[in-house]
Amino acid sequence: MLYKEQINPQKIPAHIAIIMDGNGRWAKEKGKERSYGHQAGAETVHTIVETAARANVQFLTLYTFSTENWKRPEKEVTGLMSLLLNSIEEDLFMKNNIRFRTIGAMQLLPQNVQDRLNDCIEHTSVNTGMCLTLALSYSSSWELTEATKQIAQLVKEEKITTNQIDEQLIAAHLATNYMPNPDLLIRTGGEYRLSNYLLWQCAYTELYFCDTYWPDFKEEEFYKAIVDYQLRERRFGKTSEQL
Ligand code: IPE
Ligand code: IPE
Ligand code: MG
Repeated sequence: MLYKEQINPQKIPAHIAIIMDGNGRWAKEKGKERSYGHQAGAETVHTIVETAARANVQFLTLYTFSTENWKRPEKEVTGLMSLLLNSIEEDLFMKNNIRFRTIGAMQLLPQNVQDRLNDCIEHTSVNTGMCLTLALSYSSSWELTEATKQIAQLVKEEKITTNQIDEQLIAAHLATNYMPNPDLLIRTGGEYRLSNYLLWQCAYTELYFCDTYWPDFKEEEFYKAIVDYQLRERRFGKTSEQL
């Protein structure tokens, strides 16, 4: 039976975050350049965005380019930026009622990429369906540092006292303040780490790792992850009996 048919539509994770990994190795195994893998990865993004929207996922947050990825060879970084520029599919978002957002140090991206992203954010802001967020030039260390600076400034200006700093206030100063915490985090590509992604937000997220390289991660793989998630018991520190 297909995984798609095993899904309980009442228990769709509201927020799915994905670490899209394995493009380079996928290409290398085919004797191609890494850029070929990134290109194929962009096609998977299209498929998964549409699949998630149709499955009624409310928030989809994709790790697209990390703070640490700036350290890659210049040629790869430039290639990724132009791929990004050409892969922002406003038509797809409009057709599927998707709101588009980004998190990360956007000012570090090339100006033409920033402009394109901002146009898309603005044009899709009227949509009411799934919220798609790309994490770009993003890392949790960056995000938590920024939040700390903002909160310190509030204390300095005597707008708040240190006693008023609580979990809610910190969450409100994170780049992700418009979304709930992820219910499910998927990492493709066989590595078992979070690579500086949504560390605060994933405090109680269900983690799903698979060996499939991102370019091969298609509909059924996505549904398989959701089925796996739906079989789990989320206790949030309580006992089974209390749920
Ligand atoms: C993920 O694939 C895409 C980005 C990080 C931009 P990789 O490029 O990390 O692929 P591998 O891990 O080297 O196979
Ligand atoms: C994480 O993948 C970042 C993205 C998917 C954008 P990496 O391939 O950069 O992660 P590490 O360095 O192997 O942990
Ligand atoms: Mg990688």
